[in-house]
Amino acid sequence: MTKTKHVCNECNYISTQWLGKCPACSEWNTFQEESKNVNAEKSKSLKKIKALAEITSVDEKRYSTGLYEFDRGLGGGVVKDSLTLIGGDPGIGKSTLLLQTCGNITKLYPDIKIVYISGEESESQIYLRSKRLNILKDNIFVLNETSLEDILMILKETKPTFLILDSIQTTISSEVKGSAGSIGQIKETTFELMNHSKNLGITSILIGHMTKDGHLAGPKLLEHMVDTVIHFELDSCEGHRVLRSIKNRFGTTCEVGIFQMSKEGLDQISTKKRNENSNRFGSAWTIVLEGNRSIFIEIQSLVNENKSSFGRRICQGVDQTKVNILIAIIEKYLNISLSSFDIFVNITEGISTKSSLIDLSIIASILSSYFLIPISANKIIIGEVGLTGSIRTNLNIEKRISEISSNGFTRLISNINSESILLESNLTLSEVSSLAQLVKNLFPQKLAA
Ligand code: TYD
Ligand code: MG
Repeated sequence: MTKTKHVCNECNYISTQWLGKCPACSEWNTFQEESKNVNAEKSKSLKKIKALAEITSVDEKRYSTGLYEFDRGLGGGVVKDSLTLIGGDPGIGKSTLLLQTCGNITKLYPDIKIVYISGEESESQIYLRSKRLNILKDNIFVLNETSLEDILMILKETKPTFLILDSIQTTISSEVKGSAGSIGQIKETTFELMNHSKNLGITSILIGHMTKDGHLAGPKLLEHMVDTVIHFELDSCEGHRVLRSIKNRFGTTCEVGIFQMSKEGLDQISTKKRNENSNRFGSAWTIVLEGNRSIFIEIQSLVNENKSSFGRRICQGVDQTKVNILIAIIEKYLNISLSSFDIFVNITEGISTKSSLIDLSIIASILSSYFLIPISANKIIIGEVGLTGSIRTNLNIEKRISEISSNGFTRLISNINSESILLESNLTLSEVSSLAQLVKNLFPQKLAA
């Protein structure tokens, strides 16, 4: 006997009839017919239930993508036979990232065969991009194909170790009604790809489109089905592309990978080595947070007397209004008049941020240029400055200490009042709770009144 029901793809509401609009979530065209053979269930043999301790350790082999930042976003590489979904806005670099990864994988594991199927680009387009990325290899096979059934046949025949599919929204099954990218199509193609990948032992990475409001296009079920979901997005640091894991069956979702697009594809942003001896006027180091990562940035200021008119304020990477406020705070609480000085403030390496943790370092760098006294590059200055001149540090410092000290900083200037947490590290703390204390600490020669 067969029982038929209609289930909403969005909220799993069940109806005996097909409905155009779901009465529960008000979405249109989300009902799909599901039928099950009632007798079949009874004949199925039961699997043996096991105690957790009985299960011998599972072999969780991971492949490195050759990009430390990508591995990091994945929680230490791609797990063998897993299904990963990467979503991101058009132009963010999904195809570039995966093509570069193909090149790296074949370099690291020369015996591996990769099938790269694109429904978005022709073979010659993929060839041109691969040439640009310098990854023309014999064991990367490319194909422009959108038919799910043909793709599955190819997988059965070629049995690759890796499958890259660009994208799930352009893949279409002839078994299901609806155009490419419709909910029913996405559900079917992902389900079939998942089954085939797991059965044939193929490690798969699928590209997914995003909707206007920043979610993966398709039913929520898509994210439930796959093992890992990664979002590739532009973040507060302009020009940086951040890989963020949203779901990971094999690791944490706290890690992020950071890239920058260049002429040769995606470059990894790893923590830059500072020249600790380069103590220049107007330079101050601070921190911005990207997910679980700390990025160390250099603020540079130039304060120059303008003899002909009022001082100009020009900023790059930081909000000009914020800098104007910080200048007003310096004038008010340190009794320094800056109206006749041009002030230029910049974050190096083209980074931009809205983080308020950098306020104190902006003030420090402006003062350093004004006083012509350098701040040692092994000092890191972290703090938000309020209109009353108060300093706050809204940062879980315990988590950051090892990163700060392993990057060569030896002194933390902030208003964190717990010396005890620094005991384990090489970092010493200069606690500052006012701008006068900041000046006393950094520029003792210029003791503030
Ligand atoms: P792409 O990977 O096609 O983005 P997606 O697949 O997410 O839509 O490419 C992103 C952009 O990067 C594209 O506009 C061109 C640019 N790009 C570079 O700047 N350098 C490069 O080496 C490559 C391959 C692309
Ligand atoms: Mg693409």
